[in-house]
Parts: sequence; structure tokens; C-alpha cells
Amino acid sequence: MTSPPQPLARTVAVTGASRGLGAAISLELARRGFTVGCLSRKGIGPEDQAVPTDLAARMINLACDVTDEAEARAALDALTEKTGALNAIVNNAGIHKQGRSTDFSSTDFAEVMSVNATAVFAMCREAHPFLTAAGGGLIVNIGSHYDKMGVRQHAAYCAAKAAVGAITRCLAVEWARDKIRVIDVAPGFTLTDLNKPHMESERFRDFITRAIPLGRPGEPEEVARFVAALIGEDIPFATGETYYLDGGQAISN
Ligand SMILES: NC(=O)c1ccc[n+]([C@@H]2O[C@H](COP(=O)([O-])OP(=O)(O)OC[C@H]3O[C@@H](n4cnc5c(N)ncnc54)[C@H](OP(=O)(O)O)[C@@H]3O)[C@@H](O)[C@H]2O)c1
Repeated sequence: MTSPPQPLARTVAVTGASRGLGAAISLELARRGFTVGCLSRKGIGPEDQAVPTDLAARMINLACDVTDEAEARAALDALTEKTGALNAIVNNAGIHKQGRSTDFSSTDFAEVMSVNATAVFAMCREAHPFLTAAGGGLIVNIGSHYDKMGVRQHAAYCAAKAAVGAITRCLAVEWARDKIRVIDVAPGFTLTDLNKPHMESERFRDFITRAIPLGRPGEPEEVARFVAALIGEDIPFATGETYYLDGGQAISN
């Protein structure tokens, strides 16, 4: 009898692991046997739920504000010192800010770009030497289906997520020779703190369930399973693409 394929990636860093999608991705990876570097601003791992002891044992919690490049480098250094290698990174940390474009300040625009796009590039760059040292690896950037939509009051967020798609494509091409693959996973409307205020409105809840062909918002665990499957399956020909996970919303007429 042949034994089941073993996942190639063993240590995965996840940014923004404190809550929402980052916490769900960290837990799912730990559940699948990976050692997970949970990078978060407080450095205490998932904060929005109780972490079972067996999964906590596979998590290494480290402080990392993704906009602080020195801290990011130090966190990846500390992680690889403990695990011996870094095989994959999930650049998930992100913020959401919206407002009428007639009033949206350049400061707010720059902040959204800084966390959601510049820091994604910087984390990829900082991870590169560690992934190269491991003989190659996988970078998963968390984008959004807003990267291809025109959304009122979302010029900054949409621009930043479109940048994530572009960064993913460029690094995939540039680093293919280093055996580093780069993939953009772009969720649609998924229930987390990021959109909790919207979901408190019945009008918005009605709108979003009608806008999504599958008739409901996504769950963080669905994004987590998709990301963990990409890392676990280790499909060597997949790189540079954006994979949408939005219940069909962005392609729906
Ligand atoms: N939820 C959705 O519908 C949806 C849809 C498409 C894409 N996304 C994307 O998915 C990712 C995760 O979103 P989410 O829904 O899970 O949001 P969330 O619940 O608000 O969580 C955001 C995470 O990002 C972290 N973060 C923010 N700024 C950071 C910084 N400077 N350094 C380090 N961590 C930082 C937060 O950490 P703290 O706890 O320290 O604040 C938190 O862990 C984001 O990139 C978002 O754009 C979400």
C-alpha cells in the first residue's frame, strides 16, 4: 500500500494571525500538522477564539506589525531559528477603510496602501531569503475580489487589492527561478470583524445575500481550507494567479 503524500511545506508564517481570516488560516494549518508562525501585533496568536492545546503546541507566536520592516525581519528570523526553515508565508494582514472619494484624505489612502499593498511586497521580499534557503517555497497573498470591481467609496481598498494581484504576478515571474511560487487568494464578502458593522444593518444583509449567487456570505473557515489546501497539496505548476472565493459575486451580472 502506498502511503499518502506528505505535505512539502512544514513551517508557514501567517500575518495578521490575531483574528478573522488570519486566525482561521493559522488554526487550519496547525490542524493539518504544519508548524505555524502566528505573526500579530500583540504577538499572542489567535485572540478571537480558544485555541485547543494540541494546536497551540504547533503555533509559534511572534510580534509583528507588517508596516515595520525591521520587526517583520526579526519575526521571520526568530521563527526560522526555532523551526530551521520557512516553507511558506501567508500575507493576510489588512485593513479596511472607506469613504466618499470627494472627502477621502490622502493620509487615509496612504495608510490603506501601506498596510494592504506596500507591506505585502515588503513581507514577500523579507521572506525571499528564507524561502530560498529552504530550496524554494510558496507565498500566498490575501487579496480581494474588489481588485476587479468598481465599488463606491472604495478607491483606496480596491487600488491596494489590485496592487496585490500585480505584486503576485510580478514576483511569480521574477522568483520562479528561485523555486518560489506566488499566489493571490482573493476572498469575497466573508464574515469577520472587518465587515461586522455592515452586517449589523438589515438592509445591507439583504443586499449582500442577493448580490452573492450562492446566497450567503463566506465563512473564514472556507478561506482557511482553500489556503491550507494550496499549501498542503503543493501544486508545482500553480503560480502568479489570483483565485477568487466569493460565491460567484464578482462574475455575476
Ligand atoms: N472579510 C472579508 O470580507 C474580506 C474580503 C476580502 C479580503 N479580505 C482580506 O482578508 C484579510 C484579513 O481580513 P479579515 O476579514 O480577517 O479582517 P479582520 O478581522 O479585521 O482582521 C485583520 C487582521 O489584520 C491585522 N492587521 C491589521 N493591520 C496590521 C498591521 N499593521 N500589522 C499586523 N497585522 C495587522 C489585524 O491585527 P490586529 O488584531 O492587531 O488589529 C487582524 O489580525 C485582509 O487582507 C482583508 O483585506 C477580507
